[in-house]
Amino acid sequence: MALLLPLLVVFVAFASLTEGVGLLPDGLNAAVGETVMFTTTLTPTEKPFQSVNWSFNFSTAIIIVMNSENIIGPEYEGRITFFTSTASLELRSLTLDDTGEYAVNIIQDGKPHSGRATLVIYEKVSSVSVTSSSTDLVEFSGSVSLSCSASGSSLSFLWLNGSSEVTASDRVQLTDGGSSLTIITVTRSDQGPFRCRVSNPVSTGTSDPVNLSISYGPENINLILSPSQGCFAVGSDISLTCSVGSRPPAQFNWFLNGDQLLDTGSELRLMNVQMSQSGNYSCQAFNSKTLRSQTSQPSTITVLEKISAASVKPSTNLPVEGTSVNLTCEASGSVFTRNWMKDGSDLTPTDNMILSDNNRVLTFDTVNRKDNGEYFCQISNPVSSDGAKYIMIVNYGPENVQIKGPNEINIKDTLKLTCSAESTPSARFTWFLNGTEILNNSAEYIKEEVEFSDSANYTCQAWNNITERTSSSVVHELTVTDQPSGCAAGCIAGILITCCVIFTAAVGGGYYIYKKKFNKNPQKQNTEQEENMYENISITRK
Ligand SMILES: *[C@@H]1O[C@H](CO)[C@@H](O)[C@H](O)[C@H]1NC(C)=O
Ligand SMILES: *[C@@H]1O[C@H](CO)[C@@H](O)[C@H](O)[C@H]1NC(C)=O
Ligand SMILES: *[C@@H]1O[C@H](CO)[C@@H](O)[C@H](O)[C@H]1NC(C)=O
Ligand SMILES: *[C@@H]1O[C@H](CO)[C@@H](O)[C@H](O)[C@H]1NC(C)=O
Ligand SMILES: *[C@@H]1O[C@H](CO)[C@@H](O)[C@H](O)[C@H]1NC(C)=O
Ligand SMILES: *[C@@H]1O[C@H](CO)[C@@H](O)[C@H](O)[C@H]1NC(C)=O
Ligand SMILES: *[C@@H]1O[C@H](CO)[C@@H](O)[C@H](O)[C@H]1NC(C)=O
Ligand SMILES: *[C@@H]1O[C@H](CO)[C@@H](O)[C@H](O)[C@H]1NC(C)=O
Ligand SMILES: *[C@@H]1O[C@H](CO)[C@@H](O)[C@H](O)[C@H]1NC(C)=O
Ligand SMILES: *[C@@H]1O[C@H](CO)[C@@H](O)[C@H](O)[C@H]1NC(C)=O
Repeated sequence: MALLLPLLVVFVAFASLTEGVGLLPDGLNAAVGETVMFTTTLTPTEKPFQSVNWSFNFSTAIIIVMNSENIIGPEYEGRITFFTSTASLELRSLTLDDTGEYAVNIIQDGKPHSGRATLVIYEKVSSVSVTSSSTDLVEFSGSVSLSCSASGSSLSFLWLNGSSEVTASDRVQLTDGGSSLTIITVTRSDQGPFRCRVSNPVSTGTSDPVNLSISYGPENINLILSPSQGCFAVGSDISLTCSVGSRPPAQFNWFLNGDQLLDTGSELRLMNVQMSQSGNYSCQAFNSKTLRSQTSQPSTITVLEKISAASVKPSTNLPVEGTSVNLTCEASGSVFTRNWMKDGSDLTPTDNMILSDNNRVLTFDTVNRKDNGEYFCQISNPVSSDGAKYIMIVNYGPENVQIKGPNEINIKDTLKLTCSAESTPSARFTWFLNGTEILNNSAEYIKEEVEFSDSANYTCQAWNNITERTSSSVVHELTVTDQPSGCAAGCIAGILITCCVIFTAAVGGGYYIYKKKFNKNPQKQNTEQEENMYENISITRK
């Protein structure tokens, strides 16, 4: 014992400097059941050490080698192997009780060496599992606690959310040394998968993933029409799709003008639509977990019949100037708008026109020949359009009746008188000589080889078979002369002009009476009148 005392002093000197110094490496960790090797830094030698003393916790002898004799502590019987060349020690079948300080004191060639190491034995991590207070949650309503359990010693806990580490925050609490994870207000992003990773210096274990099912919605409901317009022709196929954010997937109900339809599902297909299916469609989504529902804004679907068979019908087929005429624009289908054009341009109604009944009827108060033209009515709705035209011809007249032809003519010449009138349709003309009808239905009166007796007052009367108007009579005085042409013609013309002025004045005042008398008593009147006229002509002839 006395011999060992100085060695002990040396050892204590070493020990006071630092742990795990000298011949041995610093702290060692090992798991229960495993083997640990304390390897000295001595160069292997053939020559036996004078003495080696391995001890535990500075009290329990592990092995003492002296004079090539090994004394092994009873607790270490069969658990150790001593390496004679380096004085290293292997310790097997480790238990938690092996945790402590290991020291070795060696005397080699009279010189002391020593070493110290701390060994910590850990129980390996095992049976890592996570339990959750609930896995079926509703967003924003309530919290969830995940707790991690594991076997092993000196455990430390870490939570993984997917692949990233969970950190504590306002919403996320880590308690019980990190083994409990509490999410105060769950959100849809907290679905995980969550895993708990448990470790100590000798091992690590990770739990199975735990998924949280977090229900939410319905929200952001949106009703989409396809095609996207709101107006459809009868017979179209329309698809309405309801989209919504919801977990679990929402159940759908459909409404038309507030009345529930039988359809369910996120898509409503309307095939071969009819006008009766027009209305405001909306969808409602219901989440059976959150027990919340949401209803979309209504989408208005208008089903329209295509416009066909447009027509413009006049109130009369034969419009007569001065009367009232209606043009009525009609079509079958869903009529939205009517537009009128005249002769290819937009119609700008004039004073005598009125558009009424949403442009259905174009009324001419008193129709005028200026209203002639091509009227076009375009009927449109958002899905189609059609048009029809009507060509207006206003019937009028006869007016401005004129007789053209010579006022004097040589005997035996051919007489040609032409009567004209402004009239639609063309007027028919009737010729009278001295008050007696001589020709019907002809604009021209032709007489070959005139005689003196053809000198007379020729009268033309125009008649319009539509307006059923008869013009006033126009009288043309003709003188048959035997004088050759020359100065005489001029002289006669001069006289005639004078005569005509007098005559016209007379006709203006007297014709009405003339005609009336003639009509009442044609024969008698005729004779009187003819005589008068003839006298007149006779004068001029002289
Ligand atoms: C071995 O060392 C321990 C302490 O390190 C001491 O208590 C013990 O007496 C020593 N044994 C011998 C035989 O030197
Ligand atoms: C050995 O010492 C350590 C402290 O260094 C102590 O924790 C441990 O319980 C001791 N082991 C035994 C078996 O006494
Ligand atoms: C989990 O990760 C997601 C992102 O992936 C994050 O939004 C969410 O807040 C995390 N939850 C927790 C409890 O860490
Ligand atoms: C958990 O969610 C992940 C995807 O986030 C999936 O791959 C896995 O199968 C889910 N596990 C369970 C048990 O539902
Ligand atoms: C559809 O909704 C519009 C307003 O959004 C309303 O003016 C119209 O009257 C509704 N139609 C029906 C048939 O309820
Ligand atoms: C024209 O139509 C109006 C009503 O729109 C009616 O009062 C009038 O009698 C019609 N006139 C004719 C000539 O048909
Ligand atoms: C002239 O024509 C009308 C109808 O066209 C007829 O009523 C009348 O008798 C005719 N007069 C003569 C002389 O042919
Ligand atoms: C008017 O006369 C024309 C021929 O000039 C004839 O074609 C038409 O049928 C007549 N109309 C009536 C209503 O008599
Ligand atoms: C017409 O009347 C005039 C005078 O009144 C007479 O001279 C003439 O012979 C008459 N002509 C015919 C064709 O009757
Ligand atoms: C024609 O009529 C006018 C006026 O009525 C009369 O003065 C004249 O004599 C007539 N001429 C003939 C040839 O009948």
